[in-house]
Amino acid sequence: TGLVTYDPGFMNTASTSSAITYIDGDQGILRYRGYPIEQLAERSTFLEVAYLLVYGELPDAAALEAFTERVNRHTLVPEQFRAFLSAFPRGGHPMSVMASAMNALATFYPESLDPHDDEAVDLATVLILAKIRTITSYVHRSMTDEPLLYPDYARGYVEDFLRMSFAVPYQQWEADPVVASAMDKLLILHADHEQNCSTSTVRIVGSSNANLYASVAAGINALSGPSHGGANEAVLLMLERIRSGGDSVETFMKKVKNKEDGVRLMGFGHRVYKSYDPRAAIVKKHADAVLESLGVKDELLDIALGLEEIALNDDYFVERKLYPNVDFYTGLIYKAIGFSPAMFTPLFALGRMPGWIAQWREMMKDPSTKIGRPRQIYTGATERDYVPAEQR
Ligand code: CMC
Repeated sequence: TGLVTYDPGFMNTASTSSAITYIDGDQGILRYRGYPIEQLAERSTFLEVAYLLVYGELPDAAALEAFTERVNRHTLVPEQFRAFLSAFPRGGHPMSVMASAMNALATFYPESLDPHDDEAVDLATVLILAKIRTITSYVHRSMTDEPLLYPDYARGYVEDFLRMSFAVPYQQWEADPVVASAMDKLLILHADHEQNCSTSTVRIVGSSNANLYASVAAGINALSGPSHGGANEAVLLMLERIRSGGDSVETFMKKVKNKEDGVRLMGFGHRVYKSYDPRAAIVKKHADAVLESLGVKDELLDIALGLEEIALNDDYFVERKLYPNVDFYTGLIYKAIGFSPAMFTPLFALGRMPGWIAQWREMMKDPSTKIGRPRQIYTGATERDYVPAEQR
């Protein structure tokens, strides 16, 4: 069996080669298919980025139109599926609903399950990108007991997602361009991030030839944890606790540095970035502008800026190279748009969908793919004989 390398947390193990996303953690560089994240966030759209990640190149105008059309045409979910979504208890966490919904989709589209049939995989790709926009808005609406709206094929991806999330039935509704553009950028920033916990999960599940829905559902579950995507919700709850007088910023930071009760500064630190997360830099730049143009004055932003200011000048954080990550400022924008904290991680999942799909597809086409099967260092008992219960 050869020599086994012990690498807990895969700190230093490349599980795959990949041509999708490039990260330089020391310099804070992130590129999708070679394109700098700053350019994509500034100039592209979420669906165009999804195409880029999945197919490897930016689409020309005709290809983008055809792709948009195809995704739009599939946004409606079956009535039975709507009923299924409505059956979850209202207090249940939306990430559990998202993962269940993704898994359930497979049962509605058996013709799209074969991981080695190109047409089936393309269909599953479009179905997932289309349905997840409807599912995420339904998950949001059912938290507030509001009616689920049908999709509007004529609208853009992000615009219709916002309409299904916030519009009142039978009333004219137009997206606030500032909100729509902020939402589009946030989804682009989340669209892929190479071999993080959820993406590695998607790959390892898919490596057994499980279908795309099953693999992505596993990714949603991996994302839900507070050390990963769940951090965006945890950041907001942390900021609210500080505001409600639980702790001053200074006292809270002391607790973090003394590692009291395992308290961490949520939204800080990253396994790969040992400098400022370029996504956080973009979000921070926009948070102020979005809040201002929406007329929202949120003192949580001041608290967040205060925490960052202390952290960037404090030995504890400097020595460990802990900087704000993508989750630190995103919640403030989501909140200003009108989402509750429990929806923040589902919004991350909506954004990450193209990345998970692209990574799974890349793996399925890679002839060097093998079933994911890590080894272990056994630390249990040596051989011993069974003793019947009455003699123990
Ligand atoms: N607050 C305080 N101390 C921290 C933090 C933090 N947020 N993050 C790391 N540290 C300390 C940690 O205690 C350790 O200290 P020491 O060397 O004294 O033991 C050192 O920094 C290294 O931390 P680690 O946990 O060994 O690093 P990791 O690469 O295993 O963990 C991480 C990365 C993101 C899980 C971690 O930084 C963390 O828990 N951050 C807070 C949660 C968070 O914001 N997660 C979002 C990650 S980015 C996007 C996403 O995936 O959603």
